[in-house]
Parts: sequence; C-alpha cells; structure tokens
Amino acid sequence: MKVAIGSDHAGFDFKEMIKEHLQNKGYEVIDKGTHSRESVDYPLFGEAVAKSVVNGEADRGIVICGTGIGISISANKIKGVRAALCTNEYMARMARKHNDANVLALGARVLGIDLAISIVDTFFSTEFEGGRHERRVHLIHNIEEINL
Ligand code: RB5
Repeated sequence: MKVAIGSDHAGFDFKEMIKEHLQNKGYEVIDKGTHSRESVDYPLFGEAVAKSVVNGEADRGIVICGTGIGISISANKIKGVRAALCTNEYMARMARKHNDANVLALGARVLGIDLAISIVDTFFSTEFEGGRHERRVHLIHNIEEINL
C-alpha cells in the first residue's frame, strides 16, 4: 500500500516518526512535506496529500497539524476525500468501517506519539464494512457532485 503523508511545522516531528514506522512495516510512503520545523501553512499540505489520494498516486493519506483540525478541513475540500480526524483507536476503526475514510488526520499537540501510532495501525488494519454504510458514503459523494 502507498501512503501519502503531509504536515505543517506543528506536525513535522510526528510525520517523521509515523513515516519511519510505516516504512518499517513495508509501506511505501510518499512524503508531501513539510520538511522542517519552520512555520508553514497547513492548507497547502492538506491539499497535497488529498490530491495524491484522489489522483491515485497514493492509496491512503495521513495529514497532521497541531490539532488536526485545520489540515483535515483543508483535505476535505478536495472532491473524493473523506478525511477523518481521530483522537483514539475507536474513532480510527469506525472511520474505516463506517465512513470508508481515505485520509487520517491527527493532532500532534493533542496526542502522544505512541497513541498516534496505534491510531495509524488501527486505521490501516481496518476494512470498510459496506452494506448500509455504502449507501451513506454514496450520499456523501452525491453532496460533492452537487455542491463542489
Ligand atoms: C499552527 O500553529 C496551528 O494553527 C496548526 O498546526 C493547526 O493546529 C491548525 O488547525
């Protein structure tokens, strides 16, 4: 599986650690930046990861900022992206099972790195359940078609 990952300065350290964790597990990681702790604007990195997922360069994405809020809002502006901000493993599991989320958003200033990695592992090991949830994801898609 190919994973696009991106963060702002607040998420940079988490990005580096999560990238290494995923590479050690055999994932191909596409790093969309940022590449230092110098202050940058999170929407650019949310957009870069989101585009990588919808254009097929990556299968899934991870976006990280201080809270995870700004970068998840940004990623969700790209048609076809379902970015889920998760603060625990349960949310990560449900984001996959019920929402078929294709981008995971994390807040580096609200999580410890061990919890963040556990959330990442849960997100990547959980499949979409389909069934009635398929209909709901299609309804999200319809909203995009009409409004974006
Ligand atoms: C940067 O200071 C901070 O605003 C950003 O990382 C993020 O938390 C925004 O939602």
